[in-house]
Amino acid sequence: MKGFDHVIEPSFDDVFGHDFHLKGKWHSNWFGNNNPIVLELGCGKGEYTVSLAEMYPQKNFIGIDIKGARMWKGAKESHHRKQVNATFLRTRIELLGSFFAAGEIDEIWLTFPDPQPKWKREKKRLTGPAFINLYRNFLKENGIIHLKTDSRELFDYTLALAQVNGLQIITSVTDLYGQLPGDPLLSIRTHYEDIFLKKGVLINYLAFRLPNEKEIISRG
Ligand SMILES: C[S@@+](CC[C@H](N)C(=O)[O-])C[C@H]1O[C@@H](n2cnc3c(N)ncnc32)[C@H](O)[C@@H]1O
Repeated sequence: MKGFDHVIEPSFDDVFGHDFHLKGKWHSNWFGNNNPIVLELGCGKGEYTVSLAEMYPQKNFIGIDIKGARMWKGAKESHHRKQVNATFLRTRIELLGSFFAAGEIDEIWLTFPDPQPKWKREKKRLTGPAFINLYRNFLKENGIIHLKTDSRELFDYTLALAQVNGLQIITSVTDLYGQLPGDPLLSIRTHYEDIFLKKGVLINYLAFRLPNEKEIISRG
């Protein structure tokens, strides 16, 4: 990972309690353009980051995960493809407030996050109110959040949360490949997705807009 110039692995001390040096400066000091920035959170091997970077050269992508061994696969593939619009950031999602300034991010992809089904683990769900309120700090007003998941429970939970909070739903399907066949954006397959598809599990997809003025509350 250290040999890749598109991989950032900050130490805990680099970001805990203070801002990372690129906060608010990703456009000017890192990508060198004003193109939209899209995050893939819990990117694993970074299939979305790499494939979307290929499909959208006019956008910048950052794959984020805490696990370096998984991320290395995506970083290697992106390096092989000579992508200048893909970056990998190894850190905890909880710390993203130290990395990105208000309005710096245009879209967020959540690709097969752990569903954290136990109610007392709601705080850990990447689509729960704690995380959604964290994303509000750096996602543009009405920026899009995409959720792709094998878990019908997580899908239903997130849809209910969006509805309770009056968020605008863009797309909501419980059988992605049956209902939106051939959509190139949605047919990128991740490592975890492949495992679920082989077991015959249906894939759910939800996209909604997040206004940033109002705190998101739990659906209770
Ligand atoms: C089920 S895997 C999905 C990986 C990949 N998106 C895929 O679909 O193959 C969830 C990923 O989220 C990462 N993750 C979970 N919680 C995280 C956190 N709080 N901060 C950073 N990464 C996290 C894990 O390390 C893991 O790689």
